[in-house]
Amino acid sequence: MEYWKLVWVFVVAFLLGGYQSEGCWEIEKAALFQLKPFFPRVNGEGISWGKGNCCRWNGVECSTSTGRVTRLFLWNSCDLEKEDIYLGWYLNISLFLPFEELKSLDLSGNYIAGFIDNQDLNVLSNLKILNISYEGKNNSAPSQGWQNLKELTLMGLFGTSNIIRDIGTLTSLEDLVIYGCDVNDNLNLHGFCELRKLQTLTISNTNWNASLPECFSELTSLKYLDISSNNFSGNISVFKNLTLLEYLDISSNSFFGDISMLKNLKSLEYLDLSSNKFFGDISYFTSLTSLRELRLSNNNIEIPSSLAPLFNLSKLQILYASNNTIYNAETEMHSVDTPTFQLRSISLSCCGDGGSFPQSLNHQHDLRDVYLSNINFKGDQFPNWLLENNKKLETLYLANSSLSGHFQLPSTSRRGLSRLDVSSNFLDGNIPNEIGAKLPSLSVLNMSNNFFGGGIPISIGDMISLQTLDFSNNKLSGGIPRHLPMEFSDLVTLDLSNNHLTGNIPNWIGSLSNLSYLLLNNNYFEGGIPVQLCDLHLLRLIDVSNNNLSGTIPPCLMNTISNDSSRAKYYDSGYDGSTTYIFVDVLIKLTYFSVDVPIKFTMKNISYFYKAKVLTYLSGIDLSCNNLTGEIPHQFQHSRDIIVLNFSHNSLIGPIPPALADLSQIESLDLSHNHLSGNIPSQLLGLHFLSFFSVAYNNLSGTTPQMTGQFGTFKESSYVGNPFLCGEPLPKNCSIDGSSSSMPKNATDKGFIDMEFFYGSFVGSYIVMPLCIAIVLYINPYWRQAWFYHVEAATMSCYYFVLDHILPKHFR
Ligand SMILES: *[C@@H]1O[C@H](CO)[C@@H](O)[C@H](O)[C@H]1NC(C)=O
Ligand SMILES: *[C@@H]1O[C@H](CO)[C@@H](O)[C@H](O)[C@H]1NC(C)=O
Ligand SMILES: *[C@@H]1O[C@H](CO)[C@@H](O)[C@H](O)[C@H]1NC(C)=O
Ligand SMILES: *[C@@H]1O[C@H](CO)[C@@H](O)[C@H](O)[C@H]1NC(C)=O
Ligand SMILES: *[C@@H]1O[C@H](CO)[C@@H](O)[C@H](O)[C@H]1NC(C)=O
Ligand SMILES: *[C@@H]1O[C@H](CO)[C@@H](O)[C@H](O)[C@H]1NC(C)=O
Ligand SMILES: *[C@@H]1O[C@H](CO)[C@@H](O)[C@H](O)[C@H]1NC(C)=O
Ligand SMILES: *[C@@H]1O[C@H](CO)[C@@H](O)[C@H](O)[C@H]1NC(C)=O
Ligand SMILES: *[C@@H]1O[C@H](CO)[C@@H](O)[C@H](O)[C@H]1NC(C)=O
Ligand SMILES: *[C@@H]1O[C@H](CO)[C@@H](O)[C@H](O)[C@H]1NC(C)=O
Ligand SMILES: *[C@@H]1O[C@H](CO)[C@@H](O)[C@H](O)[C@H]1NC(C)=O
Ligand SMILES: *[C@@H]1O[C@H](CO)[C@@H](O)[C@H](O)[C@H]1NC(C)=O
Repeated sequence: MEYWKLVWVFVVAFLLGGYQSEGCWEIEKAALFQLKPFFPRVNGEGISWGKGNCCRWNGVECSTSTGRVTRLFLWNSCDLEKEDIYLGWYLNISLFLPFEELKSLDLSGNYIAGFIDNQDLNVLSNLKILNISYEGKNNSAPSQGWQNLKELTLMGLFGTSNIIRDIGTLTSLEDLVIYGCDVNDNLNLHGFCELRKLQTLTISNTNWNASLPECFSELTSLKYLDISSNNFSGNISVFKNLTLLEYLDISSNSFFGDISMLKNLKSLEYLDLSSNKFFGDISYFTSLTSLRELRLSNNNIEIPSSLAPLFNLSKLQILYASNNTIYNAETEMHSVDTPTFQLRSISLSCCGDGGSFPQSLNHQHDLRDVYLSNINFKGDQFPNWLLENNKKLETLYLANSSLSGHFQLPSTSRRGLSRLDVSSNFLDGNIPNEIGAKLPSLSVLNMSNNFFGGGIPISIGDMISLQTLDFSNNKLSGGIPRHLPMEFSDLVTLDLSNNHLTGNIPNWIGSLSNLSYLLLNNNYFEGGIPVQLCDLHLLRLIDVSNNNLSGTIPPCLMNTISNDSSRAKYYDSGYDGSTTYIFVDVLIKLTYFSVDVPIKFTMKNISYFYKAKVLTYLSGIDLSCNNLTGEIPHQFQHSRDIIVLNFSHNSLIGPIPPALADLSQIESLDLSHNHLSGNIPSQLLGLHFLSFFSVAYNNLSGTTPQMTGQFGTFKESSYVGNPFLCGEPLPKNCSIDGSSSSMPKNATDKGFIDMEFFYGSFVGSYIVMPLCIAIVLYINPYWRQAWFYHVEAATMSCYYFVLDHILPKHFR
């Protein structure tokens, strides 16, 4: 036993480096003590600076052979107590003189504005790796003595950066990273051309709006070049001679030109040209046979839907080419007729005529993600083989692609598939009964805007991860299936609108505890509104309009609508700095219609401190066009966030409750076409955001309040069809005894009813548009489409309902 212990001790001692067990060099220990006052927070974790072997101190690394300090990690360690430290301070470079073998130094996040230079030019002469990131405003380098640097990282610098201005003097550099630097002047891109030894160059997320100089073509050692997100412009022929490049990312700039310039870069494994202004034909990439990943999205490049020019790229795994021009190249002849690649991800969404669905994909068996939405495949059959052939498929988006036929399930289950969107096609037949059993892991299932008939499959209940279920705008009939399991309460969005569904709204919907959006409008549902809906505490939107619902409005319903805008979360970059300038990575978890969309903002402009501007979320209740009776509930304590409330076209009686004024955020309030009586409460004048207000066609009396919407938002009100109501915009002098009831509005009414609904829909869209635009910016197009469809459909059907049912009665 003793023997093994001894061996163990030796092994450990050897691993830690024999020298170090005896302690580090005294001269270096003393030097570290001198540094300590400037970097007090380096003690934060690990072994604090003070006792024992300094090679084991936090942030210190020594050579195993000589025992001398080789690396110092002093990031985020400066003395925050020091007055005005945020304005920048100067570090005495002589303090590093004793560290003769220092190779790597990380000074990031310390507000260092520059260095006090020493006469001894040999300080830092051995330094190979330096990190100067997130420092103070106006950064300057040591004037001399660091010309041997091989790796330099400059992140988050701003103001005037002399380091960047003088970059051309660091001619030994092999690896340079400049990221997120917002420096304002002295920008000299020619300096970079001096760095002939560069193998890796990153200049990304800067605010440099400049033209890339031609001399970049001389950086022929480059293997890795990332100049994404800078708004660089210029002639891409500068890349023509960089034949060693394996990685080229020039995405999100303003480069313009013909992609043929890149055809000689035969070593390329990764090429990202996304979000520029390139044009040309992908046949130029035929020779880039090392490519694994090709990203071309958001350009004007012409891409044949067959992908034939890429067939020889046997290593290609990822092809992202959305938002270009897809064309039909069926007639093109190629020497190879099957692709040699096995793709994992393909994204070709939008735009153009694809001809028939690309059969080249029939040879793919390893696909994970497929995005082929918004291409016109001219009524071709739905490619059920995609799901059959690719057992690892996770995402299948084939929305708005003019596909027809039936949707079939694969022969065995696909447990990996989590998102399936086949909306807005011409699919018909039934939704397969086994869909839940075969695709149990779906979190998003969108089959809306097709011609699916039959019933809703019971097996939907097997999809325990389901968050969004959208079957709207089909021809589904029957009821909502009775037994769905409790696990289903993951569900966030349930959209069954615009079908032929019948029966009651089931009580168990109340157990879908995460439900935020419930859209059952435009069906034939009957019976009452289940009081269980009140248990849904996250509900944002209930739309059950245009059904045959009867009974009263459960008073508690008004209190279910929540608008939890506290979901905005803010992260800084992990850098504990002053709030006055740092890069703020804002992650807003925007829960709109189901999907959590994380949005990352990088605030480049340091002069603005990001103010949390919380987006307005759409929330509301639409019960219109039913046969609801009873009074409007009188209690609204918790429902302050309702933005749209529509109870029109029912048989509601009683007064308009003054408590409606508690809905302080409301923008649209429609109580028209009911049997409401009494006065219009003057409290409603306090609704600041109101834009549309209608109480037309009721039995209201008294005078009309002059709605203004105090923020200038008010657009339209309608009071017509109330025989005992007076005041603007109705005739002011109407008598209160009711004799005028048949008199005043014979002509105006008829004209107005059309106008009213015109305005209604106009104002409806007016309200919805700004909300949506803000949100749509961040949401995938499918939700935008879903929402607009919904709004349009609801408005139109309401309109036609009125045209068909109400108008003839009144004016026959
Ligand atoms: C910088 O440090 C060196 C060595 O500790 C010291 O001799 C010199 O005076 C310092 N210079 C300044 C300006 O503090
Ligand atoms: C440089 O420092 C920044 C900030 O501490 C850090 O995020 C980055 O990873 C560092 N880079 C290198 C190459 O060490
Ligand atoms: C930074 O540099 C600019 C321009 O050179 C100068 O106007 C400004 O005063 C400097 N700020 C600090 C804090 O040194
Ligand atoms: C960027 O540069 C172009 C010309 O190269 C100029 O037209 C444009 O205004 C500049 N944009 C900014 C924000 O400086
Ligand atoms: C980006 O550069 C282009 C071309 O130089 C210019 O037209 C555009 O205004 C620039 N955009 C910004 C935001 O600077
Ligand atoms: C780009 O540069 C090449 C040669 O350097 C030249 O032939 C070509 O005309 C230039 N293109 C544009 C659009 O300036
Ligand atoms: C590319 O290299 C060729 C031959 O080495 C040279 O003639 C040509 O000028 C170079 N082109 C550019 C844009 O540097
Ligand atoms: C693909 O490679 C084959 C054999 O190497 C060659 O004959 C053919 O021309 C190539 N096709 C294309 C489109 O480059
Ligand atoms: C394609 O363009 C649309 C609309 O501009 C945009 O929302 C979408 O994000 C783009 N797709 C990609 C992959 O960039
Ligand atoms: C549907 O796809 C076509 C192209 O086929 C496109 O023009 C249209 O904008 C798409 N519609 C939607 C709502 O995205
Ligand atoms: C509305 O309900 C009443 C009784 O509650 C009934 O008499 C009437 O027929 C219903 N109207 C419609 C259109 O269903
Ligand atoms: C109602 O119609 C009659 C005949 O069309 C017309 O004389 C009368 O002025 C109208 N009344 C109002 C208030 O417009």
